[in-house]
Amino acid sequence: MKTIKVNASVSYDVIIGEGLLSQAGDYCKAALGKACRLCVVTDDTVAPLYLDTVTSSLEAAGFDLFYYVFPSGEESKNTENLVELLEILAANRLTRADALVALGGGVIGDLTGFAAAVYLRGIRFVQIPTTLLAAVDSSVGGKTAVNLLAGKNLVGAFHQPSLVLCDYTTLDTLAPEVFADGCAEVIKYGAINDRAFFDKLRLGVRSQIEEVIATCVESKAKIVQEDEFDTGTRQLLNLGHTVGHAIELCSELTVSHGSAVAMGMVIVTRMAVRLGLCPEAELYELIDLLRQEGLPTECPFSAEKLTEVATADKKRSGDTITLVIPHGIGNCRLVKAPIDRLCELIGKGLGA
Ligand code: NAD
Ligand code: GLY
Repeated sequence: MKTIKVNASVSYDVIIGEGLLSQAGDYCKAALGKACRLCVVTDDTVAPLYLDTVTSSLEAAGFDLFYYVFPSGEESKNTENLVELLEILAANRLTRADALVALGGGVIGDLTGFAAAVYLRGIRFVQIPTTLLAAVDSSVGGKTAVNLLAGKNLVGAFHQPSLVLCDYTTLDTLAPEVFADGCAEVIKYGAINDRAFFDKLRLGVRSQIEEVIATCVESKAKIVQEDEFDTGTRQLLNLGHTVGHAIELCSELTVSHGSAVAMGMVIVTRMAVRLGLCPEAELYELIDLLRQEGLPTECPFSAEKLTEVATADKKRSGDTITLVIPHGIGNCRLVKAPIDRLCELIGKGLGA
């Protein structure tokens, strides 16, 4: 078991280990101070697998709780479901002394975290990630959001959890492609600033899962402590995401976040190679590692289509957009690109 402390505007522990779901009650009581009223939010894939274990443990620790189950999938991360959840919290008279528990992947974590950020102007919440992506990325750092029709995560808030409880035995029930999605974010950490970690990943993600999750969380904690509100260094975590979010939207959300990020990382790396900023061999190393973990590396959309969508991305600021450009594996830098060059740049990344 490993515990990593995140010292942001709120300090909290990320606890990573086996069999933690059945101890959720004790860990939540320690993090929240005492038993209170809780709403556990999950989805209809996770509920039959893990909801009973978590609610039994919470009840045994003295929590008074109710739960809410959304349909699984990215489509659930919308404003209608946010309002539905807020109405449920109000109807159940949740107070400022109470809290939410997000049990699931990044969709449930982002939606529940945002509800916690705005309900009564902010109540506490606990993240219990059950996907690899949520374990290594979305459950840590306090970015919460839902999607708008115009784009991903366009409405949200920074709201840190009180605890992240990561029981990695839950990853055993993930569909292989969902596990692979998480590998895209894992590989991202190596690609951004940790060449040694990237090299270690060639041994496989699953065979060293506790260490992999801990390394990613340590890396994210460090970045979040430095730049909680995403005005500088934290933007490095967006490697492949500007194009990735555009791919997700162009596919009408049928391409998953992790797959889209994998394609996006390849596109920006090839762009950097063609601009003479990154050695070509490093692009092939990235492609090989993504393929090793079953991720797609070729994008089916044109530069024009991607650009049209990417210009609505929240990383745009006026006439520029911040891109994360690899100068090699483990050496990424932030560059402000003029919006009117974006199509040409994405075109280079696609090989046009
Ligand atoms: P997800 O939450 O949709 O989960 C993927 C699928 O796995 C769903 O069908 C879910 O029901 C299922 N599932 C979850 N846990 C399971 C388990 N243990 N066993 C079997 N099935 C399980 O997707 P995700 O990949 O976890 O998260 C993607 C979302 O995270 C996107 O919306 C993305 O924008 C967001 N995200 C947020 C941040 C952040 O910092 N807040 C960072 C990265 C990604
Ligand atoms: N996943 C990007 C961030 O947390 O900043």
